[in-house]
Amino acid sequence: MNPKISFRNVTRSFGSLLALDRLNLDIADGEFVTVVGPSGCGKSTALNVAAGLVPTSSGQVLVDGAPVIGPGPDRGVIFQQYALFPWLTVRQNVEFGLRLKALPAKERRSIVQRCIALVGLTDFADALPKTLSGGMKQRCAIARAYAVDPKVLLMDEPFGALDALTRVNMQDQLLLTWSGDRRTVLFITHDVDEAVYLANRVVVMAARPGRLQEVIPVDLPYPRTEAIRLSAEFTAIRNHVWRAVYHQGEAH
Ligand SMILES: Nc1ncnc2c1ncn2[C@@H]1O[C@H](COP(=O)(O)OP(=O)(O)OP(=O)(O)O)[C@@H](O)[C@H]1O
Ligand SMILES: [Mg+2]
Repeated sequence: MNPKISFRNVTRSFGSLLALDRLNLDIADGEFVTVVGPSGCGKSTALNVAAGLVPTSSGQVLVDGAPVIGPGPDRGVIFQQYALFPWLTVRQNVEFGLRLKALPAKERRSIVQRCIALVGLTDFADALPKTLSGGMKQRCAIARAYAVDPKVLLMDEPFGALDALTRVNMQDQLLLTWSGDRRTVLFITHDVDEAVYLANRVVVMAARPGRLQEVIPVDLPYPRTEAIRLSAEFTAIRNHVWRAVYHQGEAH
């Protein structure tokens, strides 16, 4: 089967800085891939190229075989900063992306309702973002991305601003949704545990120049549970990823 997302020799420079050096990576349909690596190794650059927000210097990203030339509704993008419209309610924020789609009002309302329910915000549909916690704001941003029904989700440290407990709950909720629809996810994080807990594969990147260092398969079953998180198998993979991230360039 063709990959859902394909990075083909993607290179991006900013002036003399090589932010991303010939990234090659295929992500299969339905796969959950996480990306870790030191600050400045080009994680966000790679995601932004796939989102169509940053052009490549050379190489290209294909989504379903078609080259990315700009942002599009086939890719839902979620950033660490929630990027909600503060003057719109949860419902209006989620509905926003749908305005571009010519849908009958009734259908639009039912999609919005379903996506809000999916992230557990039904009781807060008419709340303004300022009255929500960080986790709730991020769930609203996720619902907004889902409403457009993208083929893939591109998430750049979406849980980075959340406390540890909220973060774990968000991970479980995201996996629950993912196991229902198996939508392809590319997910950047600084948190090695999070990277392993969520993923089919963890991509480790290295800095100066930004590049792919190692791809580590996570051979653990879904649903992922606390028992898995605390298992010896999980720890072994986590330690492997940790070493790949934090001992880059050292002789082993
Ligand atoms: N618009 C830009 N203009 C100039 N340099 C940039 C720009 N965007 C990124 N860079 C540089 O490219 C390199 C990679 O940046 P990028 O944001 O992709 O790293 P990252 O891995 O996401 O880092 P972090 O973990 O801190 O988010 C960095 O050295 C950064 O300074
Ligand atoms: Mg980044």
